[in-house]
Amino acid sequence: MLAAVITRPGPPDVLELREVPTPVPGTEQLLVRVRASALNRADLHQRRGHYPAPPGAPADVPGLEYAGEVAALGPGAREWREGDRVFGLVGGGGHAEYVVVHERTAVRVPDALDWPAAGAVPEAFVTAHDALRQADARAGDTVLIHAVASGVGLAAVQLARVLGLRALGTARTPAKLGDARAHGMAHGVALTREVVADPPSLAAALSELTHAHGARGAGADVVLDLVGGAYTNASLHAMAPLGRLMLIGLVAGAEGTLDLGRILRGRLTVRGTVMRARALEERIVTMRRFADEVVPLLASGAMRPTIDRIFSLQEIVAAHERLESNETVGKVVLTV
Ligand SMILES: NC(=O)c1ccc[n+]([C@@H]2O[C@H](COP(=O)([O-])OP(=O)(O)OC[C@H]3O[C@@H](n4cnc5c(N)ncnc54)[C@H](OP(=O)(O)O)[C@@H]3O)[C@@H](O)[C@H]2O)c1
Repeated sequence: MLAAVITRPGPPDVLELREVPTPVPGTEQLLVRVRASALNRADLHQRRGHYPAPPGAPADVPGLEYAGEVAALGPGAREWREGDRVFGLVGGGGHAEYVVVHERTAVRVPDALDWPAAGAVPEAFVTAHDALRQADARAGDTVLIHAVASGVGLAAVQLARVLGLRALGTARTPAKLGDARAHGMAHGVALTREVVADPPSLAAALSELTHAHGARGAGADVVLDLVGGAYTNASLHAMAPLGRLMLIGLVAGAEGTLDLGRILRGRLTVRGTVMRARALEERIVTMRRFADEVVPLLASGAMRPTIDRIFSLQEIVAAHERLESNETVGKVVLTV
């Protein structure tokens, strides 16, 4: 089969389309003919040599999500038939013509989604849904979402709308706030380079946003921190008592200082989350909840994935360059 292969650590042009062996489905696994996938920050880190694939995933083929047709069933697999349309997450190898997945992690693609739309769903919607659940977000809560026009961010804004949450957001690119508003964000702030570089100014900007525009004026009940770095500590000052911060991404940096007094006095929770490293049983539970609680909303059109741009697998280098540009709104999709 054809796959996008990381030939050595480096910039996008280290990626090459190569013939590699088609994987063989093991016990209770499916072989899926991938029709679409999408890019994630983790693919960029893996390509640069900073994020090795977990055990069981191919070391040199990136790709954390897939949408496609069941092509063959491994021994003991009985939940699906050949030709069924499925989507889900993988530890790697999604940017190829075939992947193998455990049959209980696969979810049926609703008819309303064509292949590019289906490819844009899994990482963004599963991550956002799982994080809101872990944060125990409830109707009436205010949720602050950083990098709000990212793939995960726009999924979170839509989930917030259907859950009855008030969504506030940040972006460094002012035009992206309009895209987030179109999906239901109540209010957002564009953070200038000067504000982002100055921790007190960043804390003041976030605090003002959530106190002036939150549902109860007391700050954010939930923060989805897709950015990390200085944003994490600054967000503590924008949170309501008993607020919950979910640390989901580290594009602004993996280190920082935290105001422990603020956490203590506010009785705040700071919790990290990652999808890729979860054990099989936990992934099955996460995907069952996604199938039950999110997929019906995608099927009815109450929510829709946001596609920034579609590339073919042959255009993998350009796709990586596009995601790396930070200009994207929503998902960079690959058709296979
Ligand atoms: N924990 C998990 O399991 C998991 C799963 C999926 C994704 N993630 C993480 O979630 C985040 C969003 O993922 P995604 O794929 O949806 O992202 P994405 O679509 O690639 O968007 C990321 C956006 O973040 C903003 N950004 C980039 N560098 C930044 C910086 N230094 N400071 C502030 N903002 C910055 C940019 O938008 P602006 O114009 O707004 O600055 C950029 O477009 C990423 O950090 C990703 O690693 C985590």
